[in-house]
Amino acid sequence: MGATTDPGRVIIFDTTLRDGEQSPGCSMNLGEKMEMARALADLGVDVIEAGFPIASPGDFESVRAIAREVRGPIICGLARCNPADIDRAAEAIKDAARGRVHVFLATSSIHREFKLKMSRDEVIKRAVEGVKRARGYCEDIEFSPEDAARTELDFLTEVVEKAIEAGATTLNIPDTVGYAVPTHYAAVIRHLKKTVRGIDKVVLSVHCHDDLGLAVANSLAALQEGARQVECTINGIGERAGNTALEEVVMAIRTRQDFYALSTGINTRHLYPVSRKLSHITGMAVQRNKAIVGQNAFAHEAGIHQDGMLKERSTYEIMKPEEVGIPRTELVLGKHSGRHALKQRVTDLGYHLTDDQLNRLFDEFKKLADKKKEIYDADIEALAENQLQSGTGSTWSLVGFTSTAGTGSQTSAAVALRLADGTVKRDAAIGNGPIDALFKAIDRVTGISVKVVDYRVRSVTQDMDALGEAQVEIDHGGKLSRARAVSVDVIEASALAYLEVVNRVASRQIRDRLKPTDNVPPEVVPANV
Ligand code: KIV
Ligand code: ZN
Repeated sequence: MGATTDPGRVIIFDTTLRDGEQSPGCSMNLGEKMEMARALADLGVDVIEAGFPIASPGDFESVRAIAREVRGPIICGLARCNPADIDRAAEAIKDAARGRVHVFLATSSIHREFKLKMSRDEVIKRAVEGVKRARGYCEDIEFSPEDAARTELDFLTEVVEKAIEAGATTLNIPDTVGYAVPTHYAAVIRHLKKTVRGIDKVVLSVHCHDDLGLAVANSLAALQEGARQVECTINGIGERAGNTALEEVVMAIRTRQDFYALSTGINTRHLYPVSRKLSHITGMAVQRNKAIVGQNAFAHEAGIHQDGMLKERSTYEIMKPEEVGIPRTELVLGKHSGRHALKQRVTDLGYHLTDDQLNRLFDEFKKLADKKKEIYDADIEALAENQLQSGTGSTWSLVGFTSTAGTGSQTSAAVALRLADGTVKRDAAIGNGPIDALFKAIDRVTGISVKVVDYRVRSVTQDMDALGEAQVEIDHGGKLSRARAVSVDVIEASALAYLEVVNRVASRQIRDRLKPTDNVPPEVVPANV
C-alpha cells in the first residue's frame, strides 16, 4: 500500500512475526508462523512483516512461504542496509502478490559512534545505496533510521530526505529503545512533516517500543501529527518490554473516533481470537488486566459498577466485549456434537486446519468428550494447537511411558519413543520426582540434553476433569525454545511438551549440519533485530 486515498485511514503494519518473534520465548516454527500469518490476514492488517530473511535459513523460508501463500496484506521482509541482506529479503518476498522490502540503518550518534563506527556522511551514503538497491527489486520500499527518536533532528531530517529522494515510499521513525514520550515524539513527527522535502509523497510511519510503558501513547501522538502507519504486534510482544500493542492502538482509534477522526481496516471481532492464538502458540499468556484482551478487561467486580452496568451498560463500559470478539458463551460442544459442528467452531475460533488435522482433531475431541462432559472453547483451542504443533516433521514421537512416584519411594520413569523411520527406542531413568525422571529418560533415548529453564502446568478450563496443559522452556546452547502440549494426564502433557522442544533442537541440529553457514555480513545486529 502506498499513500492511501482516504486521509484518515491508518495503515496497520503488523510485526508480530519479526520484532515480536525475535523476543525471548516467542520463537515460532514454520507451521506456527503460517497459522499466525493467516490469522493476521483474516484480522485485516495491511502489512505483515514476516521476518528478517538473512537472519537464518528458517527465517528466509518462513518469509518466502508466507509471501507465496498469504493473500490480502502486503508481505514485508526486513533487511539491513547492505547488499546481501537486501538481496535475500527481495528473494524471500518475490512471490508475494504485493511485497515490500524494509531497509534500516541506525542514525543516532550513539549508534554511529559505537556500533557502526561511521560518520554522518557514510550513514547517508549507505542509506541511499540501500534504498536504491531495494528499489531495483520492488516498488514498495520502507526505510527506517534506527534509533530515530535519539537522533539529532537536523541529521534525521537530512537522512529522511535523502531516503525519499532515493525512492523510499514509506518512512518509518523508530523509537528503538523506548526513550520517547508523547509530546517529544509528536514534535519530531511535526518537525519532519514541516521540513522534509517530499514527505507528503510518502507514508510516514511510527514504530515504538514500550520500555517506559508509552508505546501506544507515543504512536497515537504521532498519528495526531500526520503519521499514517503504525507498526505494532499482537499482545504487544517484542524485544524487552515489547512493541505497540495492535489491539490497544486499534481500539483507541475506534473508541475515540470522535477525537482522532481516524480509522483502520481491522475487523475488531478477530482481536481476541488472534490474541489467544498467539498466547497458545508462544506459551506467553497476557496479564489478566491487560487492556482489550486480558481476562479482566470486561469484568466488573465492584457492586456499584455491577449495579450501574445492569441499569445501563455504558455507565461503566466504553467498548462492548463482542466488538473485540470475546465470546458471549463459552460452553459449546459435548459428546454428541458432530464433525460439522466441531469444524465450524474451530473455524470460528480462527484456526485453519487441513482435512487430516481436522480428522485427527475430531478423534481427540471424541476421546476427550468421553472423559469430560462439557467441552469449552479453551479445550477446542488446546486441541487445535496440538494439531498445529504435531505433524511438523518431528524427529521423535511418544509411543508410551510409565512413571512411578510416591512418598519414600525413588521416582523413576521409562519411555518408548519412535523415530521418523519407525524405529522404537526405549530407556529409563530415576530422578527427583516423576517429571525429572521422565525428562531424563527422554534425554537418554534421544541423546539430546537440554536445560529446563521454565516448566508450568495448568488446567485449561476450571472444571475438575479439565485438560492439563504443560509448558516447557529450555535452553540449548544459548537458544531458548518453548513448547506446550495438552492431555487429560498432566504427566503425558509434560512428556509431549518436552519432546516438542527436543524435536526443535533435533531439527535445528539437522539443519545446521546441512547448511553450516549463511554468510551473514559482519555488521552488528542491533538489540531489536
Ligand atoms: O526498533 C527498531 O528500530 C526496529 C527497526 C528495524 C524498525 O525494529
Ligand atoms: Zn523494533
